[in-house]
Amino acid sequence: MRVFLGITGASGAPYAARLLAALVDAGCEVGVSASAAGYEVLATELYGDASLPHDEVRDRLVGGLDGVTVYAGNDYSAPYASGSAKVDGYVVCPCSMATLGTLASGAMDNLVHRAASVALKEGRKLVLMPRETPLSAIHLEGMLRLRQAGAVILFLAPGFYHEPKTIDDLVDFVVARALDQLGLDQTLVRRWGQ
Ligand SMILES: Cc1cc2nc3c(=O)[nH]c(=O)nc-3n(C[C@H](O)[C@H](O)[C@H](O)COP(=O)(O)O)c2cc1C
Repeated sequence: MRVFLGITGASGAPYAARLLAALVDAGCEVGVSASAAGYEVLATELYGDASLPHDEVRDRLVGGLDGVTVYAGNDYSAPYASGSAKVDGYVVCPCSMATLGTLASGAMDNLVHRAASVALKEGRKLVLMPRETPLSAIHLEGMLRLRQAGAVILFLAPGFYHEPKTIDDLVDFVVARALDQLGLDQTLVRRWGQ
């Protein structure tokens, strides 16, 4: 299965890192692109240094993971920039309100926007994983518009009914729901009723 993972500048970098590892574990070929703000949040939240160069962030994020290709934000030669390339699923995790608003307006300014808009126009699975609180009417309208256009809005809001003991347990809860949306088996979190 071929999956695009866009990483934008909302808080939630641990979700992106965990999701990437889970996609690789599931045998996916993964194309990754992060926005400039996405790199900043990855550097801040995963490595404790907002000024870490993008190359260093990239190497730490994908080091040791097979089947992952990282594309620059302006690399429109990437397969994910065109509907003619075969791609099974697209995820933006975390999804900032800036990217959400851009997508809702139909505009695009980087490869993450382009890939997500390709998913919508081709009627393919697009999972947007936003994080912001509280939400303005503009945010809410943007989410409704994207849902109506076919995107899945999977908010970065973990449940607590699986009795989490660690932050990783909370992260896994949300990542498991994303894997479900992509039709991938997940064993990260016990299903309700099992
Ligand atoms: C550490 C940090 C955390 C942020 N958290 C959020 C957030 O949770 N949600 C959000 O919408 N924007 C957040 N922002 C602001 C976005 O990064 C900013 O709006 C940026 O323009 C988003 O651009 P992008 O969508 O191209 O990544 C955060 C910024 C930083 C530096």
